[in-house]
Amino acid sequence: MNDLSNLDELLASRAAETRRTIEPCTVVIFGASGDLTARKLIPALYHLAMEGALPLPYRIIGFARREKTDDTWREELHTALQQFSRTKPLNEDVWKAFAANVHYCQADISDDAGYEKLKSTIQSFDNDKLKKNLLFYLATNPSQFGEIAEHLNRVGLLHKEEGGITTERLVVEKPFGHDLASAKALNAELIRFAHERQIFRIDHYLGKETVQNILTFRFSNGIFEHLWNRDSIDHVQITVGEKIGVGSRGGYYEESGAMRDMVQNHVLQVLSLVAMEPPVSLEAENVRDEKVKLLKSIRAMSAAESAKNVVRGQYFAGEVEGEARPAYRSEPKVNAKSNVETFVAMKLLIDNWRWSGVPFYLRTGKNLPLSASEVRIQFKPAPNILFAAKSGTKLDPNSLTLRLQPDEGITLRFNGKVPGAAMELRPVRMRFSYDTEFGAYTPEAYERLLLEAIAGDATLFIRRDEVETAWGIVDAIRSFWADKPLTNREFYLAGTWGPTAADDLLTSDGREWRNPQPQK
Ligand code: BG6
Repeated sequence: MNDLSNLDELLASRAAETRRTIEPCTVVIFGASGDLTARKLIPALYHLAMEGALPLPYRIIGFARREKTDDTWREELHTALQQFSRTKPLNEDVWKAFAANVHYCQADISDDAGYEKLKSTIQSFDNDKLKKNLLFYLATNPSQFGEIAEHLNRVGLLHKEEGGITTERLVVEKPFGHDLASAKALNAELIRFAHERQIFRIDHYLGKETVQNILTFRFSNGIFEHLWNRDSIDHVQITVGEKIGVGSRGGYYEESGAMRDMVQNHVLQVLSLVAMEPPVSLEAENVRDEKVKLLKSIRAMSAAESAKNVVRGQYFAGEVEGEARPAYRSEPKVNAKSNVETFVAMKLLIDNWRWSGVPFYLRTGKNLPLSASEVRIQFKPAPNILFAAKSGTKLDPNSLTLRLQPDEGITLRFNGKVPGAAMELRPVRMRFSYDTEFGAYTPEAYERLLLEAIAGDATLFIRRDEVETAWGIVDAIRSFWADKPLTNREFYLAGTWGPTAADDLLTSDGREWRNPQPQK
């Protein structure tokens, strides 16, 4: 007899089975001594190996300048894994088998000889596929991307492959440029040596389960898709909040600010998944076409509209969860008169058939009260008759909240009758939690992204026109800020939800921010 879980199993759609088979592959990490390698890339590869998800055989080569042997690099990685692995303690048997596949190539990024050495290491592998299926992960400064691609091309490890399944691929980290012009220049450099199909631009938000679930939720459920438009939705709020300050990253942050660090990539990616049209298939190009179309439908703002619809902020000293936080201007490596924004809130309008007239309110910031990212779909209120006529503005309009992190899940909020003789109503919630439903298994975004890049599936990576369109949006807004110092109303105390100007953005439209709530 079938119990419910068996039935679920039978009904489960096995979309993943149609994926391309993953071939044995050599992964070369440039910037192998860096933070990203130790914190994210090696832990992700170790977990993929532990789950048997990596193709066999596989090899990982670290390419960096520092003097090291294979063994000393392995020891360093072992220590880093003990600190950064999402599962502890380490499985020493898995680690031993994994470490045997890890090599180090000591070389300078600008030195031809280093690439020859890399080539001979790859050629020494005794499996043909390991010599041909090559994934180059550029975890370096973007200014070095072009140079690395050129060197790889020169020694014959990277060819521009025009068609078919690509076997030589480049994965590039963010930031992809610092504005439209630099992103275009970077793209132009890379496409000299690699076809667009060989370039995998990372936005780690796309590796998050909950972000991928936005499309599953929208396009595998008939009931919600019917409501997903201007007829039923009053407005949408997207919050990507962080309770950390900039800490030791002041040097980087001074060059970036929240707009370039978070909005240009993560926030606009979430927006495009929430608002895009259904793609004609789940193929990478079809999904990415729709995301680009959505980004292109965002209404451009004049200087006056931007002054009204975009709020920037910077944190003052304050407290987050009882812990004192310095002002941004007092953080290490930050200019004491800096006008860099640590918070952005804005109202965007999307000029297409589905969303005409529906505002999208976005906000992100550092030193906010909670680290929480969510999308709140706020539906239109019920007609002003019956209960609504009696309760007036106290009757809560329905909302659907996609909790991206933490407490991953979805909440539907609607009104219910409080038991008793009096006709009293109040909002109640239906909650879906990933943890309760699927257990605590939450793979790191990098696990999924590395596996997709190894498989050659670009769906979760940013295409050239996508990155450029997103820069266009951000650059236009930033150009109105140029040289304008922050005004008093643009500062906020660390530990609050941004400057009051961000609240005004909604109250002037007769709406209010609904702040993420810690879940019990
Ligand atoms: C990074 C930004 O891309 O994303 C950081 O550079 C930010 O400033 C981080 O803290 C947020 O990622 P997550 O996965 O912690 O939400």
